[in-house]
Amino acid sequence: MKNIFLLFLVFVLVSCSEHKTWRIGVSQCSEDIWRDKQNQELKMCTYLYDNTHLEFASADDNDKVQISQINHFIDEGVDLLIVSPNQVNTISPAIDRAYDMGIPVILFDRKSDSKKYTAFMGADNQMMGSIIGKYIIGQKSQGAILEIKGLKGSSPAQERHEGFVKGINNESRLITCDGDWTQNSGYRLMDSVLQQRQDIVCVFGQNDRMAVGAYEAAKKHGLEERISFVGIDALPTKGGGIEQVRNKVLTASYIYPTRGDLLLQLAMNILEGKSYEKENLLKSALVTHENAEVMLMQAEEMAAQNGRLTTLNDKVNVYLSQYHHQQVYSVLMAIIALLVIGLLWYRIRVMRRRHQMEREAFALVVGSQPSSVARVSPHAEEPEENNPQEAPADVATTLTKVSKEQKEKIAADGDNDTNFLDHLRLLVQEQMTDSDFGVESLASEMGLSRVQLYRKVKALTGRTPVDIIRLSRLNRAKALLAQGNRNVSEVAYDVGFSSPSYFTKCFKDEFGMLPGEVK
Ligand code: FRU
Repeated sequence: MKNIFLLFLVFVLVSCSEHKTWRIGVSQCSEDIWRDKQNQELKMCTYLYDNTHLEFASADDNDKVQISQINHFIDEGVDLLIVSPNQVNTISPAIDRAYDMGIPVILFDRKSDSKKYTAFMGADNQMMGSIIGKYIIGQKSQGAILEIKGLKGSSPAQERHEGFVKGINNESRLITCDGDWTQNSGYRLMDSVLQQRQDIVCVFGQNDRMAVGAYEAAKKHGLEERISFVGIDALPTKGGGIEQVRNKVLTASYIYPTRGDLLLQLAMNILEGKSYEKENLLKSALVTHENAEVMLMQAEEMAAQNGRLTTLNDKVNVYLSQYHHQQVYSVLMAIIALLVIGLLWYRIRVMRRRHQMEREAFALVVGSQPSSVARVSPHAEEPEENNPQEAPADVATTLTKVSKEQKEKIAADGDNDTNFLDHLRLLVQEQMTDSDFGVESLASEMGLSRVQLYRKVKALTGRTPVDIIRLSRLNRAKALLAQGNRNVSEVAYDVGFSSPSYFTKCFKDEFGMLPGEVK
């Protein structure tokens, strides 16, 4: 039984135990379509790793907000941190703190000025700037070029600018101004430049949003046809860079890969102790009017596939939760089954014990002398050899008379079951020789009604008072016959039977032999 319970305990523990869940904090510097797309990709990829939990925070281009969000993740005890630092040097202390506390840190897209990070993933912003520079030079050999830079302190803004300057061979026709990645900043800057000069032939917005903002400003000045606009990001979303290129708002854009899939894979490699690269540069490509349509079609197809995957994942989640419920039900069923088995086992034990006690009580009454009789014997003080008439061998004579002291002792002992049985036995032994002795007289001698006597005797011995009287007589008869001094009829009368033939029948029924066969 103990082993079954142990096995059961192990079964319950194994069923209830869950794998460790990795908690990853994602700190995005701002909230925009590019980062939305990346967050979606990250979420989708958690389908592949069922032990991953992502928490997102967006700082809305605010350093202080981002610092407090990172600190919150640290205090929450995340297992890994993915950060796009809003600016190079402002966020570093918070990132350093996480790193120093042993939390792996992945920098994505933007860099910090600290060496305290586990890995970096992002596109090569320098190279991107340089390719766009070369592309623009190839398109526009003359006229002023305006570069609208991203947020001053952010690493892509600095790197894209460095690359762009190289790409256009340091040409003096470059004018630069500082935006902040928003469409509004692109519009505002372009508007003010166009108010001062009209010789701009090309605008490089360091991202598509600023390039589109600049286009809108040029439109206001009626110059949008004369100027070409190039950006970065090339999002395949509605209103995103690729659509703007196809619609000829932008001349070109450069894909700035979001790659949430690769990012999560890198995170999992770090968490699971697998090998990984510290610096991870993502590949990308230029989008022009020639390939924009194809890219949009591919993006549409991918979106449809993603939708199917999401549906599949939702279905799997439903099945998993059903499976989980079934697991709980089976554990409950197992508990109930074990309880039922345990209760049955206990009940059987109790019943066996009861039957045993009944058998013992019955044997005590109809068979051997109970201990309490010996205790209350008037000769109890004397050694056995001095009481030859009480030797157990002489069953016939030992129990025929109940002494005054025995009766007094039984009365004094009160109303417990042993005492009751002793009393019963002594009365039966004393009176069985009287053929008129029966249940009625036994009940009145015991001070009980017939029904009370029946109930009590049945409860204690499992047999009826009639059985007890009959078997007591037959046992006495057997003992007398074994002494060999009397014949069958004499013995029958001696033990209270009024008919020797009926005695013979009862004897045969009980002992399976005729009285005359007793030796
Ligand atoms: C999105 C974004 C992109 C840009 C990148 C630079 O927040 O502004 O448009 O390419 O960040 O980090």
